[in-house]
Amino acid sequence: MAEAGADAIVLINTLKGMAIDIKNRRPLLGNITGGLSGPAIKPVALRMVYEVAEAVKDIPLIGSGGVMTANDALEFFIAGASAVQVGTANLSDPHTPLSVLEGIKSYLQLEGLANFKPLIGAAHSVS
Ligand SMILES: Cc1cc2nc3c(=O)[nH]c(=O)nc-3n(C[C@H](O)[C@H](O)[C@H](O)COP(=O)(O)O)c2cc1C
Repeated sequence: MAEAGADAIVLINTLKGMAIDIKNRRPLLGNITGGLSGPAIKPVALRMVYEVAEAVKDIPLIGSGGVMTANDALEFFIAGASAVQVGTANLSDPHTPLSVLEGIKSYLQLEGLANFKPLIGAAHSVS
């Protein structure tokens, strides 16, 4: 990836979905389909970060998809992300990035870690 010019990889964007209006039996969205985001896509995003982390070692991965809480962010770190993006959560609470940050700090304190680097990709370690 680095040799192709990438500095980092963001995983993932929205997943294409749709909804149907059962009253008029037509697609609900004007564009017929639309981007699904938020907690519904987190398991897919985590799986993709995990799989890409197995293959790509030379550039950082940025996790995106359903990060609402510090726990979500921590899951992405442990799967292999070096940073996360908060999207949809900002629409319901614009303070989400701050609460995610505070929650990460609390977790690090509880776990006796000076920073989050040991968490990155920890799920891949063989015991
Ligand atoms: C309202 C909205 C607008 C978005 N606009 C863009 C965009 O312009 N370009 C892009 O690459 N992704 C865009 N996305 C996708 C987000 O960057 C993000 O990858 C995706 O929503 C999953 O993260 P989330 O669950 O935290 O929202 C948008 C998402 C939402 C909800």
